[in-house]
Amino acid sequence: MIEKVGIIGSGTMGSGIAQVAATAGCTVKIFDTQKEALETAKASLEKILSRLVEKGRIDANEKNSMQKNIQYVNSLKDLADSHLTIEAIVENLDIKKKVFQELESYVSKECIIASNTSSLSIASIASALQLPERCIGIHFFNPAPLMKLVEVIPAIQTSEATLQSSVETIKDWGKTVAIAIDTPGFIVNRVARPFYGEALRIYEEGIADFATIDWAMTSKGGFRMGPFELMDFIGNDVNYTVTETVFEAFYYDPRYKPAFTQKRYAEAGYLGRKSGKGYYNYTEGAEKPAPNKNETLGQGIFDRVLVMLINEAADALFWNIASAEDIDNAMTKGVNYPKGLLAWADEKGIDWCVQKMDELYTEYHEDRYRCSPLLRKMARENKIFF
Ligand code: NAI
Repeated sequence: MIEKVGIIGSGTMGSGIAQVAATAGCTVKIFDTQKEALETAKASLEKILSRLVEKGRIDANEKNSMQKNIQYVNSLKDLADSHLTIEAIVENLDIKKKVFQELESYVSKECIIASNTSSLSIASIASALQLPERCIGIHFFNPAPLMKLVEVIPAIQTSEATLQSSVETIKDWGKTVAIAIDTPGFIVNRVARPFYGEALRIYEEGIADFATIDWAMTSKGGFRMGPFELMDFIGNDVNYTVTETVFEAFYYDPRYKPAFTQKRYAEAGYLGRKSGKGYYNYTEGAEKPAPNKNETLGQGIFDRVLVMLINEAADALFWNIASAEDIDNAMTKGVNYPKGLLAWADEKGIDWCVQKMDELYTEYHEDRYRCSPLLRKMARENKIFF
């Protein structure tokens, strides 16, 4: 039974995960090397909980007990009695390995040591430990208290007991678990790539501008935000780095090739909302450009991005990265897609998907547009995903 949780790193993710664990009744200790980071985390939790009390979602007693459940500590050693630790520090393999080695010298043999990494291999992190079978990826989405999805990633070293206990705990915390194989981008950061990449490519080919592509994806597809609005929201620097990391990790598979446009925007400091300018201008009084609401154009853009997303989801299933249910849950609960991509494929028809991919391949003759063998096989055998 996991009751004592240690969190390493009190930034955006660490403080959110601490809130989730404390809300579920665990006692949480959170450690950060920066004293100010701990203070900020404490102050921001106070703010969040006060707002929840104001809205009537929790009462003052619940707020108090949640706050009492979280201790802010100045030494990694203070996490010694944890049953589970989740690391959410800087995304750097060498630093993570060092922290894991030190942590292992303090905690009991039974303690599960997890990482919230988005892009590093869990096998490489686990290799730093004396007992690598206790290591696992537990990947939350931002903001952790609001996003339902948690990807759980066993490394090849991870024991069945570590996996079972992690899955049970995360479910107890009220989250939806998707289990993924330890491969670049896990589920969400892999399957979502075409949402950005194909949109950027459509722009670079001169087919439509940012506002028109965003309009097509929101109005035809029901996505909450268009790709350019979303990249501005995430930050072009952050989003570009994920794309580049996934591209390199896949041995330069052209499907994940980053776009020069995004690289230049990041280099120019046009990072999006946080810098006041990205694909759109966020300074006060700035007007949003109007899209070209041409129905045929909009439908063409939407179909192209959607089929690339479906192809990516089908290919993740082809390579056994996760189950069909988990792939669909990951996209609806991790990044708020209006529908699961495999369910969407069933709705559109597998034949339609294959035909659209083949049209793109015929047009460009690029490996980027190769149809997943799984879609082709399913079309041949007249099968659907669900
Ligand atoms: P952040 O920069 O907000 O917070 C990182 C914190 O770790 C800082 O407070 C820093 O002082 C602390 N830290 C750095 N080195 C440390 C060490 N050796 N020991 C203890 N604390 C240390 O970063 P963020 O965004 O919370 O990301 C943390 C991890 O979570 C990264 O691995 C990232 O890839 C992953 N992640 C981030 C998501 C996001 O949307 N921001 C989503 C999912 C995963």
